[in-house]
Amino acid sequence: MTVAIIGAGSVGSALGRRLIASGISVVYGVRDPQASRARDVPDGARVAASADAAAAGDVVLLAVPSAAAVGAARSAGDLRGKVVIDCTNPLRFDRGPIWSAPPEGSNAQALAAALPGVIVIKGFNHFGAEIHGDPRMAGGPADALFAGDDPSGKRVAMELAAKIGFRPIDAGPLRNAALLENLAVLWIQLATGGMGREFAFRLAGRS
Ligand SMILES: NC(=O)c1ccc[n+]([C@@H]2O[C@H](COP(=O)([O-])OP(=O)(O)OC[C@H]3O[C@@H](n4cnc5c(N)ncnc54)[C@H](OP(=O)(O)O)[C@@H]3O)[C@@H](O)[C@H]2O)c1
Repeated sequence: MTVAIIGAGSVGSALGRRLIASGISVVYGVRDPQASRARDVPDGARVAASADAAAAGDVVLLAVPSAAAVGAARSAGDLRGKVVIDCTNPLRFDRGPIWSAPPEGSNAQALAAALPGVIVIKGFNHFGAEIHGDPRMAGGPADALFAGDDPSGKRVAMELAAKIGFRPIDAGPLRNAALLENLAVLWIQLATGGMGREFAFRLAGRS
């Protein structure tokens, strides 16, 4: 499997490192392949223009600033039929993080509306990049919740999460992306309120 990661910042580079360490090949889609090569791109990853990377990816991870999400996905070429995992969080800050969703209801729903035929799955958004890099950092596999309307696309995302060390959880349809974006708000609130960044949410229960 090849995973295309659009955006080689904190989340993209940490996830890429984890994927490569788990034996999955990674190609980064960036705006300026030469500049990105010199920065955070992990060893073993390829770097390409976004459209070339997305074409090579079986799965596309979108890890760009929230406001750039729709534009970055559009510049990644024809994504119809591809599973696109949206890691972005629409936030503003005023004495803490505030969810700032687009009119579609969440960033993931805005992507789905802008890109008909693309299988948008929300996920990998509700913990910090340290956990993307090491899902067991918080004492056991971090839970990774995924929301999406396409069952097979969601299965692909969940299998990918399991392969790299998360416990994947089905969080229901894409309209629940709003819940996952708000889970990120809570994570940031707790992280900046004294918990630090080395924690993740885990559901308690017998199974
Ligand atoms: N940081 C976290 O702990 C964390 C955790 C969970 C979710 N998130 C979410 O994940 C997303 C990424 O966060 P981050 O912290 O990784 O951001 P970041 O460090 O600022 O990196 C963003 C990356 O996106 C690239 N980019 C911007 N516009 C682009 C475009 N149009 N096409 C392709 N690449 C583009 C930037 O590349 P250039 O060098 O070209 O500008 C940069 O490499 C955000 O939406 C954030 O809310 C972040």
